[in-house]
Amino acid sequence: MNDALGSVQSILILGGGSDIALATAHAMVARRCRTVVLAGRDPEAFSGAAKELTKAGASTVERVSFDALDHASHAEFVRGTFDRERDIDLALVAFGVLGDQEQAEHDGAEAIRILDSNFLGAVSVLVPLVEAMKRQGHGTIVVLSSVAGERARRSNFVYGASKAGLDAYCQGLGDSLVGTGVRLMIVRPGFVHSKMTDGLAAAPLATDPQHVADTIITGLGRGSEIVWAPGSLRFVMSALRHVPRVVFRRLPL
Ligand SMILES: NC(=O)c1ccc[n+]([C@@H]2O[C@H](COP(=O)([O-])OP(=O)(O)OC[C@H]3O[C@@H](n4cnc5c(N)ncnc54)[C@H](OP(=O)(O)O)[C@@H]3O)[C@@H](O)[C@H]2O)c1
Repeated sequence: MNDALGSVQSILILGGGSDIALATAHAMVARRCRTVVLAGRDPEAFSGAAKELTKAGASTVERVSFDALDHASHAEFVRGTFDRERDIDLALVAFGVLGDQEQAEHDGAEAIRILDSNFLGAVSVLVPLVEAMKRQGHGTIVVLSSVAGERARRSNFVYGASKAGLDAYCQGLGDSLVGTGVRLMIVRPGFVHSKMTDGLAAAPLATDPQHVADTIITGLGRGSEIVWAPGSLRFVMSALRHVPRVVFRRLPL
């Protein structure tokens, strides 16, 4: 339960190794969050991150197994997590893959892997997560969407489609939660320097995980429903959304 000053005390991170998620976890711990659950495919790999979070002030850092592609395990995963922790104030849906666009254009399995990891896997775990938060009567869900879902680009339309699906789902889900005590915030980062983009040429307005974490903290404080990182992307995208396709496809995006 959020403490008397409204600070989040417990956070569940789906995609516990994500650079953006770990920067956010540190920002939360600096603001008195005491319990962090890092969930991902290889929980052993989170031991360094767990030590760092403990050193920063977290009293409990749990590492648990979670695979977004294993839909059948999601209901039990959520039940087990809420049974153990009793209370989760905030869940951060941070898992995702960029995938190989070129391969995905010729290999349906790669296209499906991207869509499943970023969209279907998220929906699959969001359904029981929302139910669990509604039962506890409070909670916030933060979902990492992407600016790539705003308008499909030739260079990464499979990833863009997966984020467009996730974003649309979360817009409707957020609306459905009004009045339940549970709320959802969508985060739309542009290019972020992280493991996901390692080795790629940075896009204009590139940021880092710390900037996205700060944006999340500010958005939560303001009760925002959608935040952009950086914030200027909101205005850039509202212009780009209306550029004719024949022009848009020629832009170096
Ligand atoms: N970096 C960017 O430019 C950018 C921009 C916009 C949005 N985003 C979104 O922000 C989120 C975090 O990205 P990031 O930049 O922090 O990248 P990251 O450091 O590569 O984190 C992505 C995480 O997703 C996990 N993951 C992938 N598939 C999974 C699965 N099937 N089950 C469970 N976990 C899985 C990865 O775990 P493994 O170690 O097991 O692979 C990794 O920890 C993603 O949703 C991404 O799409 C990123």
